[in-house]
Amino acid sequence: MFAIERHPVSDSVRAQALVNNEQYQQLYQRSINDPDGFWREQAASLDWFAPWHTLTESNFQEGQAAWFIGGKLNVTHNCIDRHLATRADQVAIIWEGDDPHESAHITYRQLHDKVCRLANALKARGVEKGHRVCIYMPMVPEAAYAMLACARIGAIHSVVFGGFSPDALRDRILDADCTCVITADEGLRGAKRIPLKNNVDQALKDCPNVHTTLVVQRTEGDIAWHAERDIWYHDAVRAMPSNCPAEPMDSEDPLFILYTSGSTGTPKGVLHTTGGYLLGASLTFKYVFDYKDGEIYWCTADVGWITGHSYIVYGPLANGATTLMFEGVPNYPDTSRFWQVIDKHQVNIFYTAPTAIRALMRDGEAPVKKTSRASLRLLGSVGEPINPEAWEWYYHVVGDTRCPIVDTWWQTETGAIMISPLPGATDLKPGSATRPFFGVQPVLLDEQGQEIDGAGSGVLAIKASWPSQIRSVYGDHQRLIDTYFSAYPGYYFTGDGARRDEDGYYWITGRVDDVLNVSGHRIGTAEVESALVLHDAVAEAAVVGYPHDVKGQGIYAYVTPMAGIEPSAALEDELRQLVSKEIGSFAKPDLLQWAPALPKTRSGKIMRRILRKIACNELDNLGDTSTLADEGVVNSLIDARHNR
Ligand code: PRX
Repeated sequence: MFAIERHPVSDSVRAQALVNNEQYQQLYQRSINDPDGFWREQAASLDWFAPWHTLTESNFQEGQAAWFIGGKLNVTHNCIDRHLATRADQVAIIWEGDDPHESAHITYRQLHDKVCRLANALKARGVEKGHRVCIYMPMVPEAAYAMLACARIGAIHSVVFGGFSPDALRDRILDADCTCVITADEGLRGAKRIPLKNNVDQALKDCPNVHTTLVVQRTEGDIAWHAERDIWYHDAVRAMPSNCPAEPMDSEDPLFILYTSGSTGTPKGVLHTTGGYLLGASLTFKYVFDYKDGEIYWCTADVGWITGHSYIVYGPLANGATTLMFEGVPNYPDTSRFWQVIDKHQVNIFYTAPTAIRALMRDGEAPVKKTSRASLRLLGSVGEPINPEAWEWYYHVVGDTRCPIVDTWWQTETGAIMISPLPGATDLKPGSATRPFFGVQPVLLDEQGQEIDGAGSGVLAIKASWPSQIRSVYGDHQRLIDTYFSAYPGYYFTGDGARRDEDGYYWITGRVDDVLNVSGHRIGTAEVESALVLHDAVAEAAVVGYPHDVKGQGIYAYVTPMAGIEPSAALEDELRQLVSKEIGSFAKPDLLQWAPALPKTRSGKIMRRILRKIACNELDNLGDTSTLADEGVVNSLIDARHNR
């Protein structure tokens, strides 16, 4: 067992931080006891075209949340225009290409120009306020321009991660009824080309409502062209005016949809709105990263996930920060790349995922130590629990025992960071996301749904609405209620389990539902199962997670073949390809076990608990097996597991 050492806030960090522990305590108490006063002050950090009249109206029973009611604002006015008077020539986005010799600097003035031209181009193609625009892009600045151009005119963006397959892209385009897609000819990651436009072409075979595809020319690779809907991005923006008025949006007007996986059914379109989301992203960015004017900040996420939305684009830009966007991967050209980029651009704040840390740890210290990293001041972690070993390596080797680590817990649905240390206020314990952010009231619930006091473990829920809360599941509000507000009435159910220690610190233990976290990618076991059973040779499939040294969790699939089908390596390969086609290659099972039958209760329910135990090799303690219809099934699965 790894001894967990407490890391107190150092005097030098405290001295220059925005808030110390006392100030955190005071501000936190105020945010709970006097939300009107607290949020009135905080909301003044945004520019409003018209003031709001009511702080919030929320009702968890009906899945209703509204914040800053009556207020009018525009996200891009806040992220761009209002900075022009003081920082027009400051760099807004540093772009680091896949190729280490390629980078670009975009100032706030240039960002304004780019976003306005694209906004005008969208309008010229008939895109209006409330229309849905799908963004399927590599990590190039145009991805940020595309999100911001939508926000400029009030169109709702739906960014789909570039690793999703054409089928998954199609489903998301159809679900949101997008009429326009913004993409690139190809993406470039670790010198490999990703056929984005090709994928879009395939997806659009079944999407008759898409009238426009804007295509960024990234690689000049060979692509097919559909003249009736395809336009080169550079042609579309060239002749456009460089000014486009920022549409005054209601605080509760939708800003974006982002699909995420749950324990059942197809992915959900998480809907976020304008005022509360922007304030949540902006405020957490400022306090959690303790951002100071002029600093260079780098979040390594992809804009296809919520971390990219809130902490590459909206949070940093709302604060007038310089945000770095990286096209490539951590191990190209070699495993020193992250640290080289930090030196090259003099990065002060670095925010990444535990899976990346664990992968880089395997290569030892040399690739890190050959770089300086002297510019670093603060490190961050997101997406999954960080194991203490990885935390200590990050702290000592990457941060040279100088930089605090903010382990930030949050979700697509929460819009912004919910539980995290504040660098000048919070003593750190490796593996703990520590304490709640302002306005956030986490609770632990026991099996009866009762709140647990003091130290203890339970499911993590949130007791009251917060500004950047999910507003709906796009097109299916009932699903929002069923998923988040029904299991524990009166609470928002996170799907995570957690422990609270004697200091009130939270330790997230992972999902309590059938959602996997594979290299920081959130994957529903039901989605992988649905893909597997599409194959004619498959009768049934059950998917569970198991601990994986680098990915956090690996995907373990039990597959029952149809009668008369002989399992083979070739068939296994076909099944992996099928998952890749249906979802994306990141969702391919790591281990596939042929199962003559699956363990079921007498009423026919698959006993996943037992499958999880077998996958995790925890065979001594299978738990209660008395309800099994046929115990022999379990023994045969265990035998097969042992023989692997
Ligand atoms: O299980 C938690 C885990 O990631 C889930 C949310 O995934 P997603 O919506 O894709 O958002 C990821 C980026 C915010 C959570 O339910 N998770 C996220 N951050 C942490 C975490 N688990 C432990 N510690 C974290 N810091």
